[in-house]
Amino acid sequence: MIFDTHAHYDDEAFDPDRDELLLGMEAAGIGRIINVGASLDGVQASQELADKYLFIFAAAGVHPDHVGDLNDDKMQWMYRLCGREKTVAVGEIGLDYYWDKESHELQKKWFAAQLAMAKEADLPVIIHSRDAAQDTFDLMKKEHAGTTGGVIHCFSASAQMAQEYVKLGYYIGIGGVVTFKNARVMKEVAAAVPLERILLETDCPYLAPAPHRGKRNSSLLLPLVVAQIAQIKGVAPEEVEQVTYENAERLFMD
Ligand code: NI
Repeated sequence: MIFDTHAHYDDEAFDPDRDELLLGMEAAGIGRIINVGASLDGVQASQELADKYLFIFAAAGVHPDHVGDLNDDKMQWMYRLCGREKTVAVGEIGLDYYWDKESHELQKKWFAAQLAMAKEADLPVIIHSRDAAQDTFDLMKKEHAGTTGGVIHCFSASAQMAQEYVKLGYYIGIGGVVTFKNARVMKEVAAAVPLERILLETDCPYLAPAPHRGKRNSSLLLPLVVAQIAQIKGVAPEEVEQVTYENAERLFMD
């Protein structure tokens, strides 16, 4: 069984066939999915998907591109959602200096506030970091330091940075990028991080693995990621599935 720890099934890319697709997951070996909030609408939609499907769980959090929509009332609302049974994480939260939609100061302010919310709610965090590796690490070390654990989603920094996060008690999320031909660093990361610290994720509808690169992604394509990690680690695909499933259970379901 596969645990997809990061999906966005509320995305409009799934509007034509969302229910049909989700109803086929269990038969295809996808045991659990976390639907991750990015915008405030995404936070709400993640709750609705978790209410509708037994195997879907929700994360509540606002992506750095959308923190301009946050205020104290919205934080209160998210904090209440964190208390619901199927809310298993705060995310995705972090810093994005690539798209740079909001000022760095505003991004840092709401990242810190959402890290504090996770601590208060005793939930792990799902971290988004793009072109902001050092600032993300410094803030997490200062504000969170592995208090409730978490995952660095779609990890894109160096293998050395991955090991620093592992030392702090975090997991590293690996998805379709590891299958790309030119993804040398991601393959190094997969080799350097112990299997006991790796989580599988799609970030669907984005980041479909090769040979589907550029097309719509879904949890059904995760076996391609499993195969690539298995090859890098020199273990059987079944072992990658089982160990990463147990990792996700330990982080999100305990
Ligand atoms: Ni995402």
